[in-house]
Amino acid sequence: MDFSHSISRRRFVVAAAGVAAATLVRPATLRASAVDERRIRIAPGQVRFTGPNGPFTPVWAYDGTVPGPMLRLRQGQPARITVENALDEDTTVHWHGIRLQNAMDGVPGLTQPPIKPGTDFVYEFTPPDAGTFWYHPHADSLVQLGRGLAGALVVEEAEPVAVDRDLLWLLQDWRLAADGQIAGGFGSMMDASMSGRVGNVVTLNGTTPTDLSVKTGERVRLRLANASLARMMALRFEGHRPVVVAIDGQPCEPHEPDDGRLVLAPAMRIDVVLDMQGDPGSRHAVIDDFYDGLAYTLTNLAYDKAPFRAHPLTAYLALPRNPVPAPDLANAVRQEIVLQGGMMGGGKLKGVGGMMGGGMMGMGMPGMNGGAAWAINGMSMTGDGHAGMAPQFTLPRGATCHLTMRNETAWWHPMHVHGFSLSVLSHNGSPVPHRQWQDTVLLAPKDTIECAFVADNPGDWMLHCHVADHQMAGLMTVFRVT
Ligand code: C2O
Ligand code: CU
Ligand code: CU
Repeated sequence: MDFSHSISRRRFVVAAAGVAAATLVRPATLRASAVDERRIRIAPGQVRFTGPNGPFTPVWAYDGTVPGPMLRLRQGQPARITVENALDEDTTVHWHGIRLQNAMDGVPGLTQPPIKPGTDFVYEFTPPDAGTFWYHPHADSLVQLGRGLAGALVVEEAEPVAVDRDLLWLLQDWRLAADGQIAGGFGSMMDASMSGRVGNVVTLNGTTPTDLSVKTGERVRLRLANASLARMMALRFEGHRPVVVAIDGQPCEPHEPDDGRLVLAPAMRIDVVLDMQGDPGSRHAVIDDFYDGLAYTLTNLAYDKAPFRAHPLTAYLALPRNPVPAPDLANAVRQEIVLQGGMMGGGKLKGVGGMMGGGMMGMGMPGMNGGAAWAINGMSMTGDGHAGMAPQFTLPRGATCHLTMRNETAWWHPMHVHGFSLSVLSHNGSPVPHRQWQDTVLLAPKDTIECAFVADNPGDWMLHCHVADHQMAGLMTVFRVT
């Protein structure tokens, strides 16, 4: 008997299986048309945001974890996701950024009946675009998202992208009390009419960050997603030059961001390619300095003593484009969205009627008792998705919409459109470079942004600020594609 042969052969088989598991995410035999079946259960749970010795925090969770499980789907392959609601209130799941059929968009009252406690809903869609997306509730969003309901959704490219590692940072911000409980007071007037519920603890994939170990020469695709209720972020990688390759899931021309800062408002995603060029053994801070005077170190890149490769990769970084229809600007239908209200907003809200649960409410104190603090074109839709939301405008199917968004307020607003990716044309009159497509567009105070999209998908679609307090307090509207 030649034992050495059988042992080495056995070793080889094991090693080969390890390689296959690491590089092929699913068996090559799975046909692209096979339905990818998933199940998610939504229920109260407990997590530790500050590591194994920290306090338990009661949360609401997808499959018991915060964030929820990372769903990896494949571009063009049908998915069927059964969602079971074990909370004691209604919920829905919205697949943020995925261009899908209106009935699967997860807005209660508008696109589906809410998922009642103890019942299921089956979502079926075929993601047309590869990229970085996420999922979250669209019922009682401020509280449900604020208690932990959010997860990442990655749609894989048909051909794998040539990087050494594919990492995802889902960033969340929490307002925690000293005992580790999520603080109450959701929807206060202060939060609603100012910057929203910005918290005091930031987590990365569910825990307060520890160092990320990296190796000299590695090329990493880092998918950044801000799933906070209200916290804006601007990340700088000290000693590194991240290259932006996609925004909100849509590939763009690879470019280094202005001042090396990656600005991520709530709901936004940015994919960067990071070439790890630090010295072996060195450590580099990743800093969030969005708010003046409140910069903090999010995490550190900690280099291994041993390099990964001697010479950095030089291959071009562009991702393959998604099949998003090109706008026909010469024949576009023009629409304008004007954002109004908030504290120091110049009293623009007089005469605004707020809608909640289908009934009309007058303007009280901004944001109080579900009242309006904000408006779009003079109209405040408050609360979350509900029946009877009348469209602000209607677009004929197939038309190009040239949409101008004007921020008349003194606050920042990440404006999000359901169902479509927007080609971002200009920012305060200057053309936006790098062929950027986004589903969430950040407007600084007094900003004007012009964008365009082809209204190829019929249905009633939401357009709202993704600062959850702002949406609840009136910065929300609906448009229709017929
Ligand atoms: Cu993240 Cu209305 O959506
Ligand atoms: Cu969305
Ligand atoms: Cu806002």
